[in-house]
Amino acid sequence: MSQSKLYPEAYPMSSGNPNAAYSSDGGAGYATKKKRNKWLWIGIPVALIVIILAAVLGGVLGSRKSNDNSSSSSSSNKGQSGTNANTGVPSGVTSVNSAAATATGANGERYLAIATDGYMLPVYATGTATAGYAAPTVDSKGAWPTDPVKPSNDSIRPNPRLAPAYKWEALTSGGLIANNLYFKQWNATIVGNASSTLNDDPTPYTEDGGLTGSGVLDVAREIKLKVKNWAYAYKVTNDTKYADRVWLELRTAAGNNTDVKFGADDGTRWNPAHFLDVGEFCAAFAIGYDWLYDFWTDEQKDAIMWSILNLGLRLGHDALSGASSASGYNWWAGSATGNSQVNGNWNCVINGGLTQAAIAIMDRDPTQLAAQTLALTVPDAYNNCFQGPDADGTWAETANYWYFGTTGAAEMVNALISAYGDDRGLAESNPGFNLTSVYHMYVQGMTSLFNYGDHGPNKYSATANSLLLWANVFDQPRYALYQRDHYDASEPWSMFWYDPATTGTWWDGLALDKHFDVQENQWATGRSSWSDNDGTYWAMRAAKATGHQTHGDLDVGDFVLDAMGQRWAGELGSGQYLSDGYFSSEAQDSQRWLYYRKRTEGQNTLLINNENQNVGTAPTGNFGSSGTAQGAAPSLNVTTDDTAFFWTDMTSAYNGTGGVKRGIRFLNGRKQILLQDDVTTSPSLQWRMHTNATVETNQATATLKLGGETLVASIVQGPSGASFSTASPTRLSSDPALPTGAEDADQSNDGVTVLTVDVTDGGSFSLQVLFTPQWGNGFSALSTVPNVALDSWSLTSHN
Ligand SMILES: *[C@@H]1O[C@H](CO)[C@@H](O)[C@H](O)[C@H]1NC(C)=O
Ligand SMILES: *[C@@H]1O[C@H](CO)[C@@H](O)[C@H](O)[C@H]1NC(C)=O
Ligand SMILES: *[C@@H]1O[C@H](CO)[C@@H](O)[C@H](O)[C@H]1NC(C)=O
Ligand SMILES: *[C@@H]1O[C@H](CO)[C@@H](O)[C@H](O)[C@H]1NC(C)=O
Ligand SMILES: *[C@@H]1O[C@H](CO)[C@@H](O)[C@H](O)[C@H]1NC(C)=O
Ligand SMILES: *[C@@H]1O[C@H](CO)[C@@H](O)[C@H](O)[C@H]1NC(C)=O
Ligand SMILES: *[C@@H]1O[C@H](CO)[C@@H](O)[C@H](O)[C@H]1NC(C)=O
Ligand SMILES: *[C@@H]1O[C@H](CO)[C@@H](O)[C@H](O)[C@H]1NC(C)=O
Ligand SMILES: *[C@@H]1O[C@H](CO)[C@@H](O)[C@H](O)[C@H]1NC(C)=O
Repeated sequence: MSQSKLYPEAYPMSSGNPNAAYSSDGGAGYATKKKRNKWLWIGIPVALIVIILAAVLGGVLGSRKSNDNSSSSSSSNKGQSGTNANTGVPSGVTSVNSAAATATGANGERYLAIATDGYMLPVYATGTATAGYAAPTVDSKGAWPTDPVKPSNDSIRPNPRLAPAYKWEALTSGGLIANNLYFKQWNATIVGNASSTLNDDPTPYTEDGGLTGSGVLDVAREIKLKVKNWAYAYKVTNDTKYADRVWLELRTAAGNNTDVKFGADDGTRWNPAHFLDVGEFCAAFAIGYDWLYDFWTDEQKDAIMWSILNLGLRLGHDALSGASSASGYNWWAGSATGNSQVNGNWNCVINGGLTQAAIAIMDRDPTQLAAQTLALTVPDAYNNCFQGPDADGTWAETANYWYFGTTGAAEMVNALISAYGDDRGLAESNPGFNLTSVYHMYVQGMTSLFNYGDHGPNKYSATANSLLLWANVFDQPRYALYQRDHYDASEPWSMFWYDPATTGTWWDGLALDKHFDVQENQWATGRSSWSDNDGTYWAMRAAKATGHQTHGDLDVGDFVLDAMGQRWAGELGSGQYLSDGYFSSEAQDSQRWLYYRKRTEGQNTLLINNENQNVGTAPTGNFGSSGTAQGAAPSLNVTTDDTAFFWTDMTSAYNGTGGVKRGIRFLNGRKQILLQDDVTTSPSLQWRMHTNATVETNQATATLKLGGETLVASIVQGPSGASFSTASPTRLSSDPALPTGAEDADQSNDGVTVLTVDVTDGGSFSLQVLFTPQWGNGFSALSTVPNVALDSWSLTSHN
């Protein structure tokens, strides 16, 4: 291998380097670097900067665009948007009722999702027939062929090994794309995307919030997404324009495109100050290198490997081995730093990217760095990333951050299994990892996620497609059947992770309600149906306030409510990640708790004395469910006494004064919802609920209108004179002042109204609010609601 220049001449370190702050030697090291082995820079000090851990933890501000699953759709947008190229809807199927009858796969399975709604969720055929619907299973029809390679630790699979050759062949010449409806639709969507982005300029290096703020994370993720799509398109069409486009993108992100300046020229081009970026660049380069292995010349392979080693693995190895040069940016590497519980998305995304990069180049790496790094990523992820879910599956951060964490974890497991034949125990390291797919299914409401806490940046290449992989790993075909109907399944990994022999109906036998009972992240949920998103859904949180990687809110008792295709009680989402102290800590005096969206007043819960909840809270949980599981058919009718409830003693969130208990339950066959607060001695209390609806209040009645639907809230029990009011979703005049920097204002909450009930008399009371969606069509609402203390709630207490 010939000695080549470390840097293109176009970017001498001495002038105009916008990232000079990262180079403590002012670039003086540049001349000497030229003499070193081009494969490795070990020994060159990486310029250290003082990193505010807070900013790093935050790390992921983005100008959210439409592909943020939870916030993509307008609140007034409901129902079908017709057939959609991204849903996997078979062409010709437009009618809900004809779908089950007309669309069958090669397997004979019913093709269930017939549209995507305004919330980007699948719309299913309706009906009571059970023909064509069956329990989730994997049969032998239309399956992958047998793997001709038996990879092992001693015998790594030849490239392509992140997506193996026999699957590429099975998909194309083997006819799987042609014969499987899901593959066919996904293939068309991916190649369509690859084609429509072919003439895009190379992704520019655009910093978001400074290099320690959000760095170039969105840049890295966009490159990863595009490289994946173009590389895939080349493999299935043999059209070299796609492969050439990958080369242009990689050459640019390597800093070698003289037309596009891409980051710093001192080895920190992929921005280790915000190490997630390095992880995602590694993944992009690994995929580009591996999938197009047969296309690249040896020179090109060397060139891509050069970046993987020098811009990625070298820094990753330093971080994971605890090299002092990495101490400023390796907080996420639990095994090197001794930091406990680094169980969030960072550890998964970074170890996932490093692992894919190491495995892609393993047998051509002249430095041994790939093998050395892999020996560190696996144990680090085992002890950290894979401990992300609690034993019940709930992700330690938030329902939104789940996407990043599980995508990184899935890419890592996929790379290990595909290259070596096993995942070295990662997936089994925590029983909660199996259940985190179940968590995802339950935390998805009938409109949005139960999207408590922070939401993170653009999703780009993070999807829920890990469910397709976990279905195989944990032998749970239900996970794959659930995810294959979602619009974001149109993605290259799906073409390898989905087992085409999976068949059945994902909701068959699935309980409607669930209590995720590990107190760290405790919550519970109930719904009226899995297949009809115009029904009812509630979810309530009763979790500890700490242990969420500083992505949580002070939100014990917080709830969301969906009915008739609308979210009536909703979440405000992330604050401004760059605001002062936003990620400083989860302590009571953290600046994070100054911001409205993170404060107790910004949640759908009780506000006492206008104060935040206590971060040391340890709320209890009490759950009951009729245990109803959906059957095979899409139509599900429950009896009028069918119910689910959850209540929590959240006194500790309010510093133990008096007693504060909150519960939620279905009444009237899951058509109405009761929210009840049993409170003993509170000086001043406000009941708060944030809604996108327009609100009209009349004493004990509030009429909410949203998306053409109506919901009535009535106070059916309460202290005398209790009545509804409305307030603005803005900080109270009694709140402590915010910092005064440019980024420190609260986010505006346009279109949101706070529905309130004030109680000032300080006595003991039960405040009961009944939510009645106006179903029309012969619906008869309850005329009376039994008054039952939360302590006495049972499955039959309200019959
Ligand atoms: C995949 O989709 C592309 C674009 O629609 C198409 O050209 C190609 O033939 C498809 N592959 C197969 C095997 O059907
Ligand atoms: C692409 O070309 C290779 C080599 O000629 C061939 O084996 C493969 O089947 C082709 N793939 C497609 C999708 O045409
Ligand atoms: C980028 O430039 C470096 C330094 O000249 C070189 O070693 C590497 O091969 C180049 N990589 C690509 C993808 O062009
Ligand atoms: C392969 O090597 C890894 C790491 O040494 C080890 O954890 C794993 O058990 C090995 N797998 C097999 C099948 O030997
Ligand atoms: C995964 O969890 C399900 C319960 O949801 C269980 O039935 C199954 O055995 C688990 N799989 C593994 C491999 O542990
Ligand atoms: C394909 O393009 C659509 C529309 O631009 C986008 O929503 C989707 O996320 C893209 N999918 C992939 C896999 O890039
Ligand atoms: C209002 O609608 C937006 C867009 O769907 C959503 O993200 C937000 O959570 C909603 N807010 C409330 C309070 O429901
Ligand atoms: C549920 O009730 C509706 C309306 O009465 C009816 O059309 C449907 O057949 C029922 N479904 C089942 C499974 O009984
Ligand atoms: C509870 O105590 C903490 C710590 O003193 C305080 O910051 C918080 O405002 C109190 N909250 C309530 C509701 O009393």
